Order: sequence, then structure tokens, then C-alpha cells
Amino acid sequence: MEELQDLAELIRSLDDELKLIKTKEELNLLRARFMGKSSRFSEIQNRIKDIPPEKRAEFGKAIYEYRNQMNDRFDNVIKILEERAIAKRIENETIDITLKGDFPTVGAKNPFYKVIDEMTDIFVSMGFSVEEGSDVETDHFNFELLNVPKDHPARDMQDTFYIDETFLLRTQTSASQAHVLQRNSNVGIKIISPGKCYRRDNDDATHSHQFAQVEGLVVDKGITMANLKGTLEMFCKKMFGEKREIRLRSSYFPFTEPSVEVDVSCSECGGKGCSMCKGTGYIEILGAGMVHPNVLRMSGYDPEIYSGFAFGIGVDRVAMLRYGIDDIRKIYSNDIRFLNQFKKRK
Ligand code: PHE
Repeated sequence: MEELQDLAELIRSLDDELKLIKTKEELNLLRARFMGKSSRFSEIQNRIKDIPPEKRAEFGKAIYEYRNQMNDRFDNVIKILEERAIAKRIENETIDITLKGDFPTVGAKNPFYKVIDEMTDIFVSMGFSVEEGSDVETDHFNFELLNVPKDHPARDMQDTFYIDETFLLRTQTSASQAHVLQRNSNVGIKIISPGKCYRRDNDDATHSHQFAQVEGLVVDKGITMANLKGTLEMFCKKMFGEKREIRLRSSYFPFTEPSVEVDVSCSECGGKGCSMCKGTGYIEILGAGMVHPNVLRMSGYDPEIYSGFAFGIGVDRVAMLRYGIDDIRKIYSNDIRFLNQFKKRK
């Protein structure tokens, strides 16, 4: 049949055209042109009415097969186009991991917090627990319960920022002592309480209006000065190295009796005397003493049964010693050039 040859011819020309197709839109137009209502295919198909009846079945079958063949060819090209589109998308969306990224600036921990963390670790390893105090305190807890009544001359040395007649910025972490004593009653206590303190100090290289202390308080039956000395010695050796010696000098605090100031042998000269320790071989880092009976009594402990010791370590002094910082104000000035020096140091 001549019509069948026309169909074979049609498929060949379709193959040629399909090779040029680049998009789905082009493909749809081509499909309409080759198989739509006014296509050549449709026109050949319509010729069935002119085919002698005995050949119609054969013609119908051939039409059916050619239509399938053409559809297969179109479907095949659709598949190829889709695969190409996916490959192109993958290529476009590939992340080049060899490109340099934007790195956020990583900060460094302020030496003040580093030192508090280190000190806390040491005391926790010695069985102390940590109590949080608050920066804003009452006169009652900051002074009166520490045996410093309103007219006591020791107040002059610890003038501070008053919020009103009752509230002030605490001058010492000792303010947390009475809180801890009052929360417990006649049971053993072994705590440290680190935090910031404030005083109306003339700012100079070794004084700042804001500084930090780590308070310690141990109260129990039979606590003696020997426990105080042993504890502080162990702390200093762990903090500054086995070779450090401590020295206790008698001193005065209204809330301890007897009172001492504790010096640690100079890390720079090892005790011989240098400019850092001003020729003395030692550097003062803390005040301490046996808890005054009045302090115990005022917060509900019987000093006939209980005794204890307390200490207040100057965090900034320890940081200066530990990291060789020559001016205490640098710790609080947020100078990135200063802080960056503490990156990655342990
Ligand atoms: N609070 C005292 C100060 O700031 C230090 C201290 C604490 C002394 C505990 C004795 C006992 O100087």
C-alpha cells in the first residue's frame, strides 16, 4: 500500500526533526505538527475510507503501530530532555567546597572568667559547692550581719555605690556569707561564692571601681586555723604551681577573728624579690580568718558548738599574676587587642 510507504517516510523525517529539538515546548509543537488534527499523519489515517474493505484491517493495524512508534519516539526525547535538565540543575547547584567561606570572628573568654572557672574547678575538686550571690545587696547583709554596724570605721574603706538607704552594690562577696548561714541551720557548710564587687576606689593600675572575689566559707564542728592554712596552701599550689609558698600575715577584718592576709611567693622571682613583688618576694592575694562568733550568732549558729573559716580571694590579682597582666583596668575595658591574647590559651 502506498499509504504505508508514506507513513514510513513520515517517521524518517520525524527522526531528522527530533534530532534538532532542544526544549519541551519545541517538542510539543513538533508533536502537534506530526500527529495533530491537521497533520500529515492524520491525513493518511483518514484515507482509510478510500481503502478497499479487505485491506482495511491491515491498514488499521499499520496505523496503530506507526502511531505507537511515533509516540515512543516522542516519549524517548522527553526522557532525554528531562535527564538533561536534571543534569544541568545538579551542575548549577553544585557547591564548590574549595571556595573560601566567610568565617565568623570567634571571641576569647575574658581572663576574669577564665580565672574564676579555674578557681572554681580547684575548689570543687576539694569538695566545695558553689553558691551564687547577687551584685545588689542590702546594707544589712553587706555590713551589719558581718559585724560592721552603721557607725563602724571599717565602712570608710569600703565606700560604694548606694541605690538608696537600704540597697547598695556589694563591696565584698562576704555579703553572701550570712545568706548561706541563714539558709542552713546548724549544719556543716563548705562553699565558695564567686562574683563581682564594687567600691568607690580611685582607679589606678591595681584598683578598679569594679573587681571580683571568690568568697569561701567553711563552718562545722571543730574547724581550726590549721584547716584554713591547709586549704589555702593546697589552692595556691594547684593554681600557681607546686613551688609556690604561702605566707600568713596577721590582719584585721570585723567579721573574722583572728584575721590574716595571705601572700603567695612571687611567680616572677620565686621569692627573691623583684619589681613585680616590689622587692618583697610575695604578692598579696586574699584576706581570711576564723569566722567571728558574732557573725555565727547573728545568723543562727551557736559559736560554742560551731567554728569556721572564711576567705576572700581577689580574682583580678590572681588573673594579673597568672597571666602577667600589668594593669587591672585592662580586664574591664573590653579592648579586643587585649582580649585576643587569651584565645586558645588554657
Ligand atoms: N571581704 C574581705 C575583703 O574584701 C576579704 C575577707 C573575706 C576577709 C573573708 C576575711 C574573710 O577585703
